[in-house]
Amino acid sequence: VINIQGLHQGLGMFTYDPGYAATASCRSSITYIDGDEGTLLYRGYPIEQLAEHSDYLEVCYLLLYGELPETKQMEKFRDIITRHTMVNEDLLRFYDGFRYDAHPMAIMVGVVGALSAFYHDSTDVTDPRHREISAHRMIAKMPTLAAASYKHSIGQPLIYPDNSLGYVDNFLRMMFAVPSEPYTANPVASRALDLMMILHADHEQNASASTVRLASSSGANPFASIAAGIASLWGPAHGGANEAVVQMLESIESVRDVPGLVDRAKDKSDAFRLMGFGHRIYKQYDPRAKIIRQSCHELLNELGSTRDQPLFEIALELERIALEDDYFKERNLYPNVDFYSGIILRALGIPLSMFTVMFVMSRTVGWIAQWMEMMDDPDSRIGRPRQLYVGHSRRDYLPLDQRG
Ligand code: ACO
Repeated sequence: VINIQGLHQGLGMFTYDPGYAATASCRSSITYIDGDEGTLLYRGYPIEQLAEHSDYLEVCYLLLYGELPETKQMEKFRDIITRHTMVNEDLLRFYDGFRYDAHPMAIMVGVVGALSAFYHDSTDVTDPRHREISAHRMIAKMPTLAAASYKHSIGQPLIYPDNSLGYVDNFLRMMFAVPSEPYTANPVASRALDLMMILHADHEQNASASTVRLASSSGANPFASIAAGIASLWGPAHGGANEAVVQMLESIESVRDVPGLVDRAKDKSDAFRLMGFGHRIYKQYDPRAKIIRQSCHELLNELGSTRDQPLFEIALELERIALEDDYFKERNLYPNVDFYSGIILRALGIPLSMFTVMFVMSRTVGWIAQWMEMMDDPDSRIGRPRQLYVGHSRRDYLPLDQRG
């Protein structure tokens, strides 16, 4: 749609593009997606290769700095991230202000935004060195904040980070250890979580990344901007889908009930959708979903998880029936990353309410990489979408006593 009013005002021609389906908001060299081919590259490296050979912190380095690190660079990066895992005691007191049954995502929106009250230097976003320190702080502190939101929700004392542990093991310990009892993360669980985090680390200009860019385009500090990204991710059409998928799968009693659910998702008079299906960009199988599906097989076998096996079988049957169905074929609706990720998280003992928080933890680096790229781009300026005005034309005010 060409807005004639805009032309008259000398503002040039612009498009009306609800949901930005065809509008690039920026240039980026971080993540490449080919939705027709089902390709996902971080800084040029295929997601399949990173999933097989890399680990989450190395992927963080790659996304932030654009290249895979050399040995010394990686050692230094691990060391820096490890040294920033603690959070200020005063910030930890924020948790006590939340009701015991607060959703951990609600807590995360609050405490991550509150980080800006503790790191005043980060509000000087014009200084690249401060930007880098903020990036390190957020990657390092996110697991501590996330685990604390869970501990608060179950009324257990917080477990402080143990800096002798790796990134994922440290998180698992903060989640599951109880004071005075030894805790060692299961290496199979640790590797499965690390893989999940690699797959969720970035996904170019999705709703939450675009929110972070838009919020920080005004020069807002990165902690507040990432809190805005967390709020966006929470929605069920975005990161909240992993929680919704498991709720949906748990509502199916047996594989015999799967066709009925697929029929319901096709019924346009019903708002229900198959959660974990469909994607704005992928018109092919989401490459992340393929990797996670395989990881589900391996994890459930290795953990001998009989509790989660039936849920996985229902998911596989749902996928099989949907992919044979004309409705899903015509609309190119395939499982997305969230379809199988919840099964892995459940098998790891992560409670449902923490699923989207796990996504937050993994995606933090992507949001930060997007923010740093924007700050370094000489062409970037405040984000200011246009609108197609469809309201009244000019009219005169009528005093209340004359309106009847
Ligand atoms: N179940 C049933 N029908 C669906 C589904 C679904 N999961 N997804 C899309 N459709 C249908 C729509 O009804 C529409 O049909 P129509 O053309 O007959 O009207 C068509 O497919 C296109 O769907 P849109 O909503 O226009 O696609 P859009 O790109 O705007 O939305 C989205 C993508 C939000 C992911 C959508 O597919 C969806 O709601 N999926 C379920 C939620 C989900 O899994 N979200 C996670 C996304 S991935 C992530 O954030 C990590």
